[in-house]
Amino acid sequence: MTIMVTGGCGFIGSNFVIDWLEKNNEMVINIDKLTYAGNLNNLSKVKKNINHIFFKKDISDNVYISKLLNQYKPRFIINFAAESHVDRSIDSPEAFIQTNILGTFHLLETAKSYWNMLDNEKKTNFRFLHISTDEVYGALELNDAPFNEDHNYSPNSPYSASKASSDHLVRSYFKTYNFPTLITNCSNNYGPFQFPEKLIPLTIHNALKGANIPIYGDGQQVRDWLYVLDHCNALSLVLKNGKIGETYNIGGLNEKTNLEVVSTLCFILDKLRPNKFGNSYKSQIKFVNDRPGHDQRYAIDANKIKKILKWAPIENFETGLEKTVKWYLANQNWMSDVTRDEYRLWSKRQYS
Ligand code: NAD
Ligand code: TYD
Repeated sequence: MTIMVTGGCGFIGSNFVIDWLEKNNEMVINIDKLTYAGNLNNLSKVKKNINHIFFKKDISDNVYISKLLNQYKPRFIINFAAESHVDRSIDSPEAFIQTNILGTFHLLETAKSYWNMLDNEKKTNFRFLHISTDEVYGALELNDAPFNEDHNYSPNSPYSASKASSDHLVRSYFKTYNFPTLITNCSNNYGPFQFPEKLIPLTIHNALKGANIPIYGDGQQVRDWLYVLDHCNALSLVLKNGKIGETYNIGGLNEKTNLEVVSTLCFILDKLRPNKFGNSYKSQIKFVNDRPGHDQRYAIDANKIKKILKWAPIENFETGLEKTVKWYLANQNWMSDVTRDEYRLWSKRQYS
């Protein structure tokens, strides 16, 4: 058996590929364009695994992907490929429209043509799982109930608007063509291999190199943090037991303000790798200009996936964060590799 993963060299995709290969004796076809956020080294653990086959391709490349689908005949496609960083979408939205909207459209078209040609049994068992975000729902006030699957879409950034568009396209392929789709909307992930443009790895990276740790605005915005392997477990359950055409919200029940997240990270780093001058890393925190259109709060109501698919996260915020810090401390070469060239230009522009 075979599955196809797109964006399998990014943060969540690479964690998913490694996890899937560990748990299933099944071929994984990995399609990734290797943008600044994609890194084949994320998959060094499975370098010698003959069940992993990588193709450096864009999800919009209909001809090539169609050829791969017909050659390898996957039973599932899991679409992680995306531009994923809100700040970059504010700076240069076009790539978000290209990949998140047009790329998803092209992939849907190619996958639908392939699916149409399958025999009845394979057709019935085929799944197209689209990985999305809680950001499509917009922002919550502090006392609002968390987002459930029926919450209206109200995206506020070019990133979340492009993801919302892709979700609508995926949904329409189910409603119009009976194409067997599944959508998951997950809260903020953290863990190994996350690119250090996102809050948690950026804080660790800047703390260790003695740089400012930027907190946007007053740091009181709230995110609901989930350890990446808990997300991967949820995705496996959705693939195996999810009902086609449905959406499943996935979240960590771990609502924290950004200031709490950064302070906890500094506390863990102070314990595991004390600063040589004897200061707490907290002294490096710097409040900077707020992000335009900054969403105040995200929180997920994960009751549907918990009740129906019996999913529950294994990590709590403290255990997950400590594991994550330990991973970054043990993988500083990975951090130096991904923070060369393009990263330096981006962070200079972003934080100067
Ligand atoms: P990421 O930016 O780390 O990785 C994205 C991957 O997609 C990269 O490997 C990149 O090279 C690849 N890619 C980009 N454009 C492509 C294209 N046109 N064709 C083929 N490959 C392409 O992102 P991530 O954090 O791993 O997120 C993965 C998915 O999960 C995204 O769809 C994102 O919206 C969603 N998501 C992320 C989070 C989070 O906290 N990171 C939370 C919820 C949902
Ligand atoms: P981020 O990791 O970019 O994820 P998202 O915007 O998708 O939630 O940011 C998480 C939160 O941290 C968000 O409220 C913005 C804030 N933030 C900072 O305060 N400083 C930073 O340098 C970054 C990257 C984010």
